[in-house]
Order: sequence, then C-alpha cells, then structure tokens
Amino acid sequence: MIAHKETVCVTGASGFIGSWLVMRLLERGYDVRATVRDPGNLKKVQHLLDLPNAKTQLTLWKADLSDEGSYDDAINGCDGVFHVATPMDFESKDPENEVIKPTVNGILGIMKACAKAKTVRRIIFTSSAGTVNVEEHQKNVYDENDWSDLDFVISKKMTGWMYFLSKTLAEKAAWDYAKEQGLDFISIIPTLVIGPFITTSMPPSLITALSPVTRNEAHYSIIRQGQYVHLDDLCNAHIFLYEQALAKGRYVCSSHDATILTISELMRQKYPEYNVPSTYEGVDESLKGIVFSSKKLIDMGFSFKYSLEEMVVESIETCRVKGFLPVSLPESKSDENKDATSDDIAELKTGAGLTDVMMPCKKTEPGVTGEKTDTCMPAQQMCA
Ligand SMILES: NC(=O)c1ccc[n+]([C@@H]2O[C@H](COP(=O)([O-])OP(=O)(O)OC[C@H]3O[C@@H](n4cnc5c(N)ncnc54)[C@H](OP(=O)(O)O)[C@@H]3O)[C@@H](O)[C@H]2O)c1
Repeated sequence: MIAHKETVCVTGASGFIGSWLVMRLLERGYDVRATVRDPGNLKKVQHLLDLPNAKTQLTLWKADLSDEGSYDDAINGCDGVFHVATPMDFESKDPENEVIKPTVNGILGIMKACAKAKTVRRIIFTSSAGTVNVEEHQKNVYDENDWSDLDFVISKKMTGWMYFLSKTLAEKAAWDYAKEQGLDFISIIPTLVIGPFITTSMPPSLITALSPVTRNEAHYSIIRQGQYVHLDDLCNAHIFLYEQALAKGRYVCSSHDATILTISELMRQKYPEYNVPSTYEGVDESLKGIVFSSKKLIDMGFSFKYSLEEMVVESIETCRVKGFLPVSLPESKSDENKDATSDDIAELKTGAGLTDVMMPCKKTEPGVTGEKTDTCMPAQQMCA
C-alpha cells in the first residue's frame, strides 16, 4: 500500500526488529534510509537489499553510535527517524565504553542531528521493558509511568545489567533533550519480541524465548514471568505511532504474558518432538504472571493481531527453515528429564553444527503481505 511519500531513517536496520520495520515501511510507500555499521557486509545487509521495493525506495547509510556526528548525513532531509539500534553485548568486558556510552551518546547524537536537520517531524525510539520493571519487588502490572530502579541495577549487576542501565539512561536523556529543543519524541516499550524474522543470524530475543526448547537454562529466569509481543505487531505499532498525530509520550507494546510453565506447555503441545520440560526448579502452578499494560496504545486505536501460539509457532518454524533448530531431537536424547547438559542439548544451545545458510521459504514469507499468512513449512531435514 502506498500511503505516504515520506523519507524516514531507520537505525539498526540490519537487526531483527530493524529489518522487519524497514520491510513494513517500504510496503507502505516510505523512502527508507537504513543505517548500518558496515554497508559493505552483505551477510548483514543482503536481506534488506532483497526486500520488495528496495531497489527504488531503500538506501543504505553507514553510521555508528560510537562515532559522533555519524548519523547527520542520513538524517538530514528526513521527515522521521526510527531509532532502533543498540549495542546488546551482555558479555562485554568494557560495558561502560562498549554499551553504556554508545547507547546514551548515540541517542543524543541522533537527537542533535534531528534538531539540526529541521525537517524531522517525529522521532520514534525503540526503548525496552528493561527501562520499566527492573526492581527488587515486582508489581503485578506495569505501565508507562514506571521506571527501573537504577540503584538496584547497579548494585545487583544481574545478567544484562549494562543493557538495562544504558537503555534507561538513554531514554531519560532523550526526553530531557526533546523537551529542551521542542522535538516530537515518542518511545515505544516492547517486551520480549518474538516471531518470524528475515535476518541471517539467530535473533537474541529468540535465544531467550526458545530456551525451554534448547534447554538454555541461563535464560529461564528471564521468561519465568515473561511478557511477549509479535515482531510484526511491534513494527506495525512503530508505524502507527509515527502516523498518529495525537500520539505523545511513552507506549508499552506487549500483547501477552505467560509464565515459563504456560509457554512450555504450549511448546510441548505444538512440538512434542522437543520434549520441552514441564517442570522447573522453584516454579509451581501458583506462580502468577506479570502484566505489561498496553492500554494506552490500544486506547489510541492500535490492535494486536497475533496470539501467543502464533508467536511461538512462527518463531520455531522460521528457526527450523533457517537451520537454527533441528526438526527434532535424536530419539535417544529426547527424554525431558535427561540431564540438560547432554551433548546434543549443548549442540542446540550453541548452534554448533548448524549452518546459517538461508533456506528460502517455499510458501509465502510469514507476514510479508501485511496480512497474517501461513508460516513456512519446516525444512524436511535437520539443517545441520
Ligand atoms: N528483541 C527484543 O526482544 C527487544 C525487546 C525490547 C526492546 N528491544 C530493542 O529493540 C532494538 C533492536 O533490537 P533487536 O532485537 O532487533 O536486536 P539486534 O538484532 O541485535 O539489532 C540491533 C542492531 O543494532 C545495531 N548496533 C549495535 N551496536 C551498534 C552501534 N554501536 N552503532 C550502530 N548500530 C549498532 C546492529 O547493527 P549493525 O551491527 O548491522 O550495525 C544491530 O543490527 C534495540 O534498541 C533493543 O533495545 C528489543
């Protein structure tokens, strides 16, 4: 659908969310300036160049959050900016310089470029649930008024602490700058984003969401009381908020909550061949879900299209088609009670032996048309 003839910049365009967002924007008729750190690296950009309408509506721009002023050219002359890029290295040896500074200085550089350009009418920032509920005592329901407790983050230094800290500091700094300069700034707060994808590497959030399948125990705590949004719903929400004149402030974007038991049960039903665990240490049926309320987004007129089952199935099917998950575990190793450190589970966790060759989808690419479509059929062999 050609709804607009605006030019927008998308940062982090090669990534899981960025690339799907670019696809949806191109479909809607936007001219898209996609920023990536290395436009010459075809492994990271070919999926963008292959998108419908890319030849006429897409240009690639080199930019890095660590380089001051590197977004100026890409943003100059744009009507809108979707700032999606973020460094996400949870294992960083130098979190201050590799994660926190690039995230905070990067968003400020982008805001300055927008102010300088004088053509940008709205900036949409992909924030994170990590800016909202990282605190000692969890509430039953979170919304846009909540902010993570940074003293708690710094004192605990839990897995991903530098990510929570960097996103929170970045969003707060952006709000201050937007108010000071009179920029129209909106932040969107996704929970765990899952679904089909067009990138050639395994999306970080699917490593977490599919941890019951791969037995990646380090990620269990993140989905113990998890919240989810489908990638397509999230990208449509980005565009919705960009186009809605009355949109203002922060917007939670989350459609479902599920405990690790609930999502595991769903995986067990749909994919018995993976023998997903039905019990987890320290978790019982009395565990309640934690809700991220999207009331503000829904009240603005947005509706979510996808069920939790569709999110899980489309994630798994895409991973199978791309060779990131085998279609089943070897029979001898598929006992759910088997020690999770067995060799084949370890292989699944690391992706060892799996190729990253993209296997083209025989059916309609999931979601490409903008309507819900059948998901790709699993590859008929283990793509190892
Ligand atoms: N996935 C989720 O569940 C989730 C949930 C909540 C919020 N978010 C937010 O959504 C955004 C995208 O996440 P994602 O899941 O799509 O992750 P992703 O696939 O890792 O994409 C992140 C992108 O950021 C770019 N990037 C990293 N460091 C950079 C730097 N120093 N300078 C410029 N670009 C840099 C990378 O692009 P290149 O390497 O190609 O340059 C990469 O494509 C992030 O802001 C994240 O905080 C994600």
